[in-house]
Amino acid sequence: MNKNNRYQQINWYPGHMFKSFKVINNHLKLMDVVFVLVDARIPKSSMNPDILKILNNKPTIILFNKMDLADPKNLNKWLKYYEELGFTCLAIDAQKGTNVDLIKETADSLLKDKLARMDAKGLKQRNFKTMVLGIPNVGKSTLINRLSEQRSTKVGNTPGLTKSKQWVKLANGFDLLDMPGVLWPKFELDIGYNLAITGAIKDNILPLDDIVNHLIKFMKKHYLTNLNERYNNEITKDMEFVEVLDTIGRLRGALLKGSEIDYDRVYQIILTDLRNNYLGRVSFDLIWKNLNKTYKNKILN
Ligand code: G4P
Repeated sequence: MNKNNRYQQINWYPGHMFKSFKVINNHLKLMDVVFVLVDARIPKSSMNPDILKILNNKPTIILFNKMDLADPKNLNKWLKYYEELGFTCLAIDAQKGTNVDLIKETADSLLKDKLARMDAKGLKQRNFKTMVLGIPNVGKSTLINRLSEQRSTKVGNTPGLTKSKQWVKLANGFDLLDMPGVLWPKFELDIGYNLAITGAIKDNILPLDDIVNHLIKFMKKHYLTNLNERYNNEITKDMEFVEVLDTIGRLRGALLKGSEIDYDRVYQIILTDLRNNYLGRVSFDLIWKNLNKTYKNKILN
């Protein structure tokens, strides 16, 4: 299959994107604050810049989820980067709950003017209405479940929303729309690799050998030590891709009859090692000294 044909398999994104933006837009006016989840390992590839335009003046908190998997130094740079662009940011681990208790505090601080205005008018503070947006697999349901652990009641259906969509009243002052808003990522090839490597898109959308090749090239360049800690110090920077596969295949016994390397198994071994965190904390969107201007423009205009 040539690369052009491969690309055709992913042409369905624009349709999905249009539909989910419409759904999100319909609910947006009800919200006091919106949570946009990105994957802390790929804060650029998992961010759909168009969503920030839709959110426009809506108070928004960017939650960098899966912080437990990301390279902490790189993550801090990204947090700073988005904060300098004017966004409120917080790194969390929705699975273990790290920093999830800071979300309310962060929202209070973001909405302090609104709260003060309500106070001045003698209005009682009501729960903040909120929704969680993000690309598939970024951890929306995990976060909603975790926030819902503190739930007191389901508050039934709201006019204008379909029956299946429920508001959940949380003990910590949020009414959460219990329906994650799925965003579709912008699909450019490099972004596609990052999404595939981190498991945001299915492994069959891009060819597995290409995904693993991209991963190994990147790891050799930026995280060689991580590779070597896992693979017996046998990987060198100037090894060809196939030599890396042979080394790992041999080490892990991924052999066909006659001691040939079973490359399909090696691809799976490498990806599983990465996704199960055996390659350490790694980030795939590295922040450059001067991240290109076009990206800023995409987000801000
Ligand atoms: P989605 O609703 O946005 O599609 O994502 P979902 O919550 O289903 O999460 C996707 C996967 O990411 C799940 O793993 C989930 O456990 C994992 N995950 C969510 N938040 C975090 C986090 O902060 N850190 C880590 N390490 N993982 C996180 P899964 O393997 O697909 O399911 P499961 O085996 O956990 O049930």
